[in-house]
Amino acid sequence: MLINKKILVTLCLSSVIAVVALTSMKPEDEHKFKNLKVLPKNITDKQLDNVMDEWAHSLGVHCNFCHVRNEAEKKMDFVSDAKPEKEMARKMYKMMNKLNQKYFGAKKDSLGMVMKSGVNCYSCHRGESHPEVKVPEGRRGPGGPPPGAPAPGGASAPQGDHKQ
Ligand code: HEC
Ligand code: HEC
Repeated sequence: MLINKKILVTLCLSSVIAVVALTSMKPEDEHKFKNLKVLPKNITDKQLDNVMDEWAHSLGVHCNFCHVRNEAEKKMDFVSDAKPEKEMARKMYKMMNKLNQKYFGAKKDSLGMVMKSGVNCYSCHRGESHPEVKVPEGRRGPGGPPPGAPAPGGASAPQGDHKQ
């Protein structure tokens, strides 16, 4: 009888533990980000953090470049799409994935994210939020100036000419 009681108690305890474990796991599993349109919906917190850090560093900006702050609640509203920069970042991410898949043969990982390969945000941004379209300077060979460049020696010659 005593042994049976012990077994019963153990069984009860372990089922309590199992229930507690299951219910405390659930919020973790269901912790979904609310407004993901380009990143995988089942991305982990850690992975999302890494992506956001990489984007911010590549562009030389802070989170608030793409995300608005909810002044009433005195905290960042990461779910909101109020800033056009956020939408632009989505487009950039899609462009980057397309480039990597089509031209660099990139595969997808288990979450469906295109793996790191040929091009990333930093390849073009180099720590600048808005990379200017520039034509390389100093091409004055037999081929002449690059198409669209002002005539050499003209009042509007590129700055590079004056330095030499
Ligand atoms: C260059 C723009 C950009 C920067 C900088 C940026 N984010 Fe994001 N963030 C986005 C975009 C775009 C999404 C939505 C991705 C999608 O649609 O899949 C997003 C989504 C998120 C989400 C998920 C919100 C939800 O529930 O839908 C969080 C959290 C987040 N960002 C946090 C951060 C943090 C923290 C930083 C600063 C370290 C940061 N972001 C910097 C563009 C940015
Ligand atoms: C192939 C080059 C290239 C890559 C790769 C690239 N970008 Fe861009 N990005 C640009 C250019 C060029 C502009 C400026 C576009 C314009 O002038 O309209 C720009 C503009 C932006 C802007 C708008 C900046 C502003 O001032 O409004 C954001 C945000 C942005 N990129 C985010 C990203 C993110 C995030 C990634 C990586 C997922 C990325 N970009 C990858 C070339 C690139």
